[in-house]
Amino acid sequence: MKALVLSGGSGSRLRPITHTSAKQLLPVANKPVLYYGLEAIRDAGITEVGIVVGDTAPAIQEAVGDGSAFGLNATYITQDAPRGLAHAVLIARDFVGDDDFVMYLGDNFIVGGISELVEEFAVGRPDAQIMLTHVPDPRQFGVAELDALGEVVRLEEKPRQPKSDLALVGVYIFTPAVHDAVRQLVPSWRGELEITEAIQWLIDNGRKVRSTTITGYWKDTGNVVDMLEVNRMVLESLQPAQHGTVDASTEIIGRVLVEHDAEVSGSRIVGPVIIGAGTRVSGSYIGPFTSIAGDCTIADSEIEYSIVLGGASIRGVRRIEASLIGHDVEVTPAPKVPKAHRLVLGDHSKVQISS
Ligand code: TTP
Repeated sequence: MKALVLSGGSGSRLRPITHTSAKQLLPVANKPVLYYGLEAIRDAGITEVGIVVGDTAPAIQEAVGDGSAFGLNATYITQDAPRGLAHAVLIARDFVGDDDFVMYLGDNFIVGGISELVEEFAVGRPDAQIMLTHVPDPRQFGVAELDALGEVVRLEEKPRQPKSDLALVGVYIFTPAVHDAVRQLVPSWRGELEITEAIQWLIDNGRKVRSTTITGYWKDTGNVVDMLEVNRMVLESLQPAQHGTVDASTEIIGRVLVEHDAEVSGSRIVGPVIIGAGTRVSGSYIGPFTSIAGDCTIADSEIEYSIVLGGASIRGVRRIEASLIGHDVEVTPAPKVPKAHRLVLGDHSKVQISS
């Protein structure tokens, strides 16, 4: 069995971060979200991985390389534009060959991995094995309708009136039958080849499609709210350690990981918190569920429930909450007079100012 990991896409919901970065490389507890997926694939016993890449190909290739760091053998498949999940299958035909394969969305986060799904597929080998989960608002997902026996009868992409609350999780297993399905597709109203339509084609053509409803944790990290929530969840099981230096006037409460060459002084850190390598924290409060990446400066500031990317600098600002702060961003107070906000914001930035 092979794996196809989708790491292209446009990432419009995470702009402006995705103007310059691949969303699959955004860190969760200071580790790219994509790495968690690659580890889950390796843990399921798969070694041959095709990674579908788009505009952000160079960054993904730099981060994953030949895959050997994960115990994988990575092949890159270039998608000229985000033409849909089924389009990714179409262009991966040569890589996949006549093997069964797992398709994994590179920005998805699944606690508990995919080994169970792979084992379930092996029993009976349906043409598609999909994973479902109950969600509060199914309208933003692919939604499955099951019959009384639990068989999948219909799939609909982002339905206005969902027939169930069962959303498709971003992991699928296919036999080569899916190649016939994706060849029949035409672009949907949103201009994409939809994987839900390919699976529907399999059902309509008498192919076996099976589902597993997971109860564990799953999130698509495609927007800031979900990113912060996944970060919270991963930090819940953080192993505390101090590899950097923490001075005597700093108070550390709860699970805090200070990575090597980080320096913390005169601060109060309430975990779970991770402070990245080479980051300096001084005179600050860092509250629960915060991940500060490497080489940041946090001085005379307060921040909690946030993700700060590498090289960012936050000085004299209180208080930042529920925020995603990009690489090399600078946040500082404005001069006292005139009382005004001074902003240099990239396209599609979102700022909430308390005034
Ligand atoms: P999505 O999050 O559904 O799509 P997107 O990346 O275009 O994001 P947005 O809706 O915010 O604009 O994609 C799920 C995963 O699949 C993600 O890792 C990107 C990847 N993908 C591709 O590789 N190729 C594609 O054509 C599409 C649509 C997504």
